[in-house]
Amino acid sequence: MCGIVGYIGKRNALPIVVEGLKRLEYRGYDSCGVASLFHGELSVEKMAGKVVGLQSLLAKKRDNPIIAIGHTRWATHGIPDKTNAHPHLSQSGEFAIVHNGIIENYRVLKKGLEDNGYVFSSQTDTEVIVALIQTLYKGNLEDAVGNALKHVTGAYGIAVMTKHEPHKIVCARRGAPLVMGIGTDEYFVASDVAAIIQHTKQVIYLDDGELGILTSDGVETLACDRESISKDIQHLTFDVEAIEKSGYEHFMLKEIFQQPQTAFDSMRGRLNVKDGSAHLGGINDHIGSILHADQRYITACGTSWHSALIGEMMIEQFARLPAEVEYASEFRYREPLVDNRSVIFAISQSGETADTLSAIEEGKSRGATTLGIVNVVGSSIARATDAGVYIHAGPEIGVASTKAFTSQVAVMSLLTLKLARLMGMSKKDGIEIVEAMQRVPEQIESVLNQSDVIAEIARTYSKASNFLYLGRGVNFPVALEGALKMKEISYIHAEGYPAAEMKHGPIALIDEKMPIIMIAPKDKTYAKVMGNIEELKARKGRVIAIATEGDKEIAKIADHTIYVPATLAFTAPMVNVIPLQLLAYYIAVEKGCNVDQPRNLAKSVTVE
Ligand code: M6R
Repeated sequence: MCGIVGYIGKRNALPIVVEGLKRLEYRGYDSCGVASLFHGELSVEKMAGKVVGLQSLLAKKRDNPIIAIGHTRWATHGIPDKTNAHPHLSQSGEFAIVHNGIIENYRVLKKGLEDNGYVFSSQTDTEVIVALIQTLYKGNLEDAVGNALKHVTGAYGIAVMTKHEPHKIVCARRGAPLVMGIGTDEYFVASDVAAIIQHTKQVIYLDDGELGILTSDGVETLACDRESISKDIQHLTFDVEAIEKSGYEHFMLKEIFQQPQTAFDSMRGRLNVKDGSAHLGGINDHIGSILHADQRYITACGTSWHSALIGEMMIEQFARLPAEVEYASEFRYREPLVDNRSVIFAISQSGETADTLSAIEEGKSRGATTLGIVNVVGSSIARATDAGVYIHAGPEIGVASTKAFTSQVAVMSLLTLKLARLMGMSKKDGIEIVEAMQRVPEQIESVLNQSDVIAEIARTYSKASNFLYLGRGVNFPVALEGALKMKEISYIHAEGYPAAEMKHGPIALIDEKMPIIMIAPKDKTYAKVMGNIEELKARKGRVIAIATEGDKEIAKIADHTIYVPATLAFTAPMVNVIPLQLLAYYIAVEKGCNVDQPRNLAKSVTVE
């Protein structure tokens, strides 16, 4: 999704902004650009394509500007070409803007401005904002920005400069993240802290409706009435290494291999061994509401939705409390049965997913308690919800989510354990689960140690056109997640199904060309799953079994077997998903796909 970086200080702003844009590449984009002010003149360089091209363009410039704003654009309104790339200059060339989000009423605004003689040069919604700013400017940029935004409906994070006030960047947010960074005699604005972490760890997050002003003397935050407000400076707790590849070929591979540590980090200090329970400080005050709620919803998108499905199954099975999973994008529009006796969990890695944010707003407007299960600290969902739990997976840069999934499931398991113990699960059973959860990091490690075997299987099937993923119980959402990973990064069509459902339709697809990933641990449905494998083999399907260590029977009928350690159903998804992530990764590499930035995808989807 789009990215914003701005700088004002004493150094040459261009390399700093370009480096920041590179750090945001993982979010997905199709064009990029930068505007700078030098000797009182605004200049813009932009292009379709990647930041490395922009870098070459800028290398020819002799300017040494100390103020600049840059952007990576993920096209919404207008094709991804140079004209529609940001920054956009106003018609007079006096103002430059970069914008993330969507202006919903831009057609009406554009018509009004055109009727008054304004000439637009792009097809973007963004250009109306800079047109309004030019029209309303009376010598003070923050006033012009504030007044322009009064006309706008939709979502925005913007940064604006003008040649009339060459030592100022004004930024504003509504519905799209923006953070200001405070360095030594230099200041930054960005849509994601990854863009500025190498320069400063002191940041101020803007909230919806606020304006930020960056000058060479410091930063200031204004409320929508332009009253100055005092905001806390937050200290970022991760280092620049966390957003670097650290010797791995891809971020995705690094993140897959980080999972023993990240799974541990999600559980750190939260398991109570003696009592066989869990401690989740962030939602402690809301446990009563969760237990006594009339409805418990879990809402999310994509991979986070798969974690939600696992959460639902566990909460119902172990805590004996009903829960319902909703696609966040559907929740708002189906008049959900939500009131002040409802609790809504929202799961999100980025904390910025527009559909999930809307579902939260819908729930809040109906009086529900909203709880976030989020990775990115200080993100919009973390702040929009009443309370929540951070999953502590650290920055996830690969567009395909991996470590966030295992950490989300870890937190859903902790939540289940906490509720289950309060609902009557015995201490003995609780302790057994705690011990099983403690074993998860080493169990993930043992699957990672088989990466060579999985890479070999990937080579065998890299030319397949379809994959079928099958699993039962908590392994059904794991199958869905495996299929999603395969689709996202290798562009191979893949479907996930409950294993037994296969015979109700998908079995028609089975022939010698169809690889089927069968998640078949030794659990209570093992015998039935073995029967399913026989059915597949009878139709010449190629079965890749994910089986429990020591299971020799399955190896006799499956074409390939990847062994995973024996787990409780409670911890199975965190371990069983690892071979599926690796398989998708190695197949994508084999096919030469762009693993970290798959086509058409964005890391956080900030449009509905
Ligand atoms: O940041 P979120 O967890 O809210 O994102 C939700 C989905 O957009 C995300 O999981 C998406 O499906 C990923 N590309 C999955 O790999």
